[in-house]
Amino acid sequence: MSLKAYDLTGRTAFLTGAASGIGRASALLLAQAGATVHCADRDAQGLHETAALIKEAGGTAHVHPLDVSDRAQVDEAVAAATAASGGRLDIMAAIAGIMHSSPVLETRDEDLDRILNINFKGVLYACQAAARTMIKAAADTATHTADDASTTASSTAATSTRGSIITMASGAVDTGGPGLLCYGAAKAAVVQLTKTLATEVGPHGIRVNAVAPGWIRTPMTHRHDAEAQTHTEGFMARMSPLGRVGEPDDIAHAVLHLASDASAFTTGQILRPNGGVAMPW
Ligand code: NAI
Repeated sequence: MSLKAYDLTGRTAFLTGAASGIGRASALLLAQAGATVHCADRDAQGLHETAALIKEAGGTAHVHPLDVSDRAQVDEAVAAATAASGGRLDIMAAIAGIMHSSPVLETRDEDLDRILNINFKGVLYACQAAARTMIKAAADTATHTADDASTTASSTAATSTRGSIITMASGAVDTGGPGLLCYGAAKAAVVQLTKTLATEVGPHGIRVNAVAPGWIRTPMTHRHDAEAQTHTEGFMARMSPLGRVGEPDDIAHAVLHLASDASAFTTGQILRPNGGVAMPW
């Protein structure tokens, strides 16, 4: 047992949504833990700001402006990041997402399509690109070690804990609430993706887990309260036994835990940094 389990030196991480909020805080923390960080987002200016913060802190960052709902763009960026790291991709954190609120009876096809395209398919594309890359890297390692006739591919996979995929779900899947149909449905699909993929890629030594944050103070929630003229932040703080809403760093620490070997025996799980607002068992 050692704090070295949190050390990501020599590892390559790819994060979507890295231009803002939770994604930016996570990219910074993974870089501080030693990872080479590839930051992807559709907000190019925000990406460059994140990369500058990482470099200021002594880390290594690359930027990939892209739209996560475009499979080809995601595949291309993950391939470029992997090539720059000698064929390795150790961590994928699929964080990019948008908020949407509309009553069920007023929900239009275009609302549903937009949210599913970004919040579900965008996560799916990132997971697929990462898993394919990680499986190939594990197979290449197995081929190298197969020269030793006593070493089998399965034993290599079983001892490798270097592939970690992290998805961003939401406390919305635990609580429901007015207006949450599209957003909650997409996040519920992310949870199902996480569990299904965990069962399928576990034999390759790849772990897949979701983070389901409660209300976190980011540009997304700020916009939501301002546009919808709600006071959800205050309500959520009162709902929490801790009496506050979350900060991006609260979620970044959860991402670091799942990215690192500290969670080597954790897969197919939903980690809920939500201030105790919901306590499902
Ligand atoms: P944010 O708005 O600060 O950051 C989201 C990032 O995703 C932005 O940089 C945005 O440009 C990027 N993005 C959106 N659509 C994109 C697309 N099509 N292609 C590429 N990039 C795109 O929001 P925040 O709060 O940091 O949210 C991050 C994730 O955490 C989202 O998936 C959100 O649903 C989830 N989440 C946030 C909670 C909160 O209370 N803030 C609670 C639960 C989950």
